Amino acid sequence: MASRKKRRSVEWFGREGKMGYIYRSWLKNRGIPHDQFDGRPVIGICNTYSELTPCNSHFRTLAEHVKNGVLEAGGFPLEFPVMSLGETMLRPTAMLYRNLASMDVEESIRGNPIDGVVLLMGCDKTTPSLLMGASSVDVPTIGVSGGPMLNGWYRGERHGSGTHAWKLSEDVRAGRMSVDEFHEAESCTHRSHGHCMTMGTASTMASMVEALGVGLPGNAAYPAVDARRNVIARMAGRRIVELVEQDVKLSRLLTRKAFENAIRVNAAIGGSTNAVIHLIAIARRIGVKLDLDDWDELGRGVHTMLDLMPSGQYLMEDFCYAGGLPVVIRELGEHGLLNRDAMTANGRTIWDNNKEARNDNPAVIMPFDKPFKRDTGIAVLRGNLCPDGAIIKPSAASPRLMKHKGRAVVFEDIDDFHARFDDPKLDIDETCVMVLKNCGPKGYPGMAEVGNMPLPEKILRKGVTDMVRISDARMSGTAYGTVVLHMAPEAAAGGPLALVENGDVIELDVAKRKLHLHVGEKELAERRKSWKKPRLPMERGYWRLYVEHVNQASEGADLDFLVGKSGSDVPRDNH
Ligand code: FES
Repeated sequence: MASRKKRRSVEWFGREGKMGYIYRSWLKNRGIPHDQFDGRPVIGICNTYSELTPCNSHFRTLAEHVKNGVLEAGGFPLEFPVMSLGETMLRPTAMLYRNLASMDVEESIRGNPIDGVVLLMGCDKTTPSLLMGASSVDVPTIGVSGGPMLNGWYRGERHGSGTHAWKLSEDVRAGRMSVDEFHEAESCTHRSHGHCMTMGTASTMASMVEALGVGLPGNAAYPAVDARRNVIARMAGRRIVELVEQDVKLSRLLTRKAFENAIRVNAAIGGSTNAVIHLIAIARRIGVKLDLDDWDELGRGVHTMLDLMPSGQYLMEDFCYAGGLPVVIRELGEHGLLNRDAMTANGRTIWDNNKEARNDNPAVIMPFDKPFKRDTGIAVLRGNLCPDGAIIKPSAASPRLMKHKGRAVVFEDIDDFHARFDDPKLDIDETCVMVLKNCGPKGYPGMAEVGNMPLPEKILRKGVTDMVRISDARMSGTAYGTVVLHMAPEAAAGGPLALVENGDVIELDVAKRKLHLHVGEKELAERRKSWKKPRLPMERGYWRLYVEHVNQASEGADLDFLVGKSGSDVPRDNH
């Protein structure tokens, strides 16, 4: 066992006199015997349970399983709540509060007698916010994801979270589905505990937790209601006690090699574009250098193996029964695309964990050599429209639009878009490029998932299902289309996107990684003279702090003063 002197909790519970009394006595009020303060590892269970976060509604049960594991291993579990971010509830967007929640996590861990922590994460932003906060403290940490919901089924077909919300709402608008049928489908989609069961942001981030080595094998795919999900929670409870005893801090797992593995896994699973922003933010907290170019370079030559929505037809439950993420990791390892020696939370390397994984359904997990889609790593675009980069997810885009030149139809902000996009008089056809401004980190604020703009009804009725769309916004991981996102600098920060006008010609060439506005520099300089910064909601409170300090998407959209870590030391007693 590691020396108790090194253990943080001893600074609280190992004391005598007034302070020892204060730190111990109040905790005893729920029946903790005195001998539990004997220096054993104190494990925080960081819980994002909330009735306002439906995807995390089973987390009280999950926490009990973690506690059982901690107790079995001789630790002292203490569960605590943190701000929970419900993707479907929070307005204007859960992303606005990711950084706020990360501060809650960071200060809750540092300010309390916690030697190691188990993070319970599920709905999209609950994963990056907890990992970011924990990274800035850097105590031993294990992540446990809540797991996806069971497959949605409607009239004999799989229905996926988000993906079918976009699809069916367009079917209703195009006259292909009645409102009654729409409501029926809505009731058939989300039918168990768990997070979105498409390969959306939550499933992507749960896969990132496993690929980074912060979670245990199997973390990504076991459904929330599968007993094996509870086993993972219990094993995490046991293991975190050992990590504390061995003093294995989070930074021992979150290395550059681990991030490289995660980026390649993201390409191989056809993961969400949101992973780009979150992984960069987490890396910058823990002190690993990672930027957009890493995404482009490391994703090259990686193929999407999973035939999962939003790009394909199956769902996370199918992925689990086929073998889950271990199969993907094994294939990457066999093709020289894995840092095999990256260490993971269970004390084994990522290769040792996954090298024996068996693929039980090659229709769901297609072999790397005969993949679902080829060369589908996130592409990072540059050009005079996005000097600091923009991204596109090739696996979700239409191949015919990957090289396209079209006339810009510009929407100044999301309100302008909603007011006009369906106006029959709008001058637009399917060859145009839809441009949405002022939806970035500062502009929205919070960089909402509005980049996959719905197509105008008059175009849908022609049977057209995709157009090139560009913006400084994000897109839901469950969405699809030829959608250029995260343009930096954003329009509200004075990026060139702010200068685009109706009728300008925009050229997208994904193979050449190019996004170009065919307007001369002189003309752009003239336009800049008359550009006015949009009025941002900065009167007071957190929104003000956020808009004043948020970094651009290319830097992870963290608050500038949160980048990096402060460690786990905390000076002074509270009395
Ligand atoms: Fe929570 Fe999709 S809404 S994971």
